[in-house]
Amino acid sequence: MAKDGKALVVFFSHAGDNYAVGNIEVGNTKIVADYITEVTGAEQFEIVTHKYDGMAYTPLINLAKEEVKNGELPEYEGDIDLNKYDTVFIGGPVWWGTYPQVMFTFFKKHANDLKGKTIIPFTTHEGSGLANCVEDVKDAFPGANVQKGFSIYGHEVRTEKKKVEKWIRSLSEK
Ligand SMILES: Cc1cc2nc3c(=O)[nH]c(=O)nc-3n(C[C@H](O)[C@H](O)[C@H](O)COP(=O)(O)O)c2cc1C
Repeated sequence: MAKDGKALVVFFSHAGDNYAVGNIEVGNTKIVADYITEVTGAEQFEIVTHKYDGMAYTPLINLAKEEVKNGELPEYEGDIDLNKYDTVFIGGPVWWGTYPQVMFTFFKKHANDLKGKTIIPFTTHEGSGLANCVEDVKDAFPGANVQKGFSIYGHEVRTEKKKVEKWIRSLSEK
């Protein structure tokens, strides 16, 4: 991880009815994003859409599947200038084997903004690990230095903060 430069955590996280952890007020990935900020001081940009607000788990699963099938790129709120950041953590839940489509909207908009910079992908999931996320980030940001990536089970994030801290510490040793 770049020691001098500024770091940013870009993430998407879906609060509400969730697999394995029931109805949650704060999404699993947001908890990891907050740990990263706590340890590194990184700023945050949360990719927010209200498209899935209040949805039960099963309809959400079906909608997300359709979005992947149709290559939809849902809009998100606001945006951020990535210029001043040298290291960008990118995190989200695994939805159908990769990041949610709304994250790809962000990727597409910023495809040329991270050339020569470091990207550190992470996921929360319920079995798929990093799935296709690292490969998809590599494809989305040509010329970026995309690092190995970190994944943690969504149902572990509240009790296994140590795992996240250990991973973050290992980055600064590099
Ligand atoms: C629409 C949808 C699709 C999902 N697909 C996968 C999947 O393909 N593999 C997996 O391991 N978990 C999958 N999950 C589980 C989430 O990745 C997991 O619960 C994650 O921690 C949610 O993070 P969040 O609370 O930050 O949104 C899916 C969950 C949803 C809602």
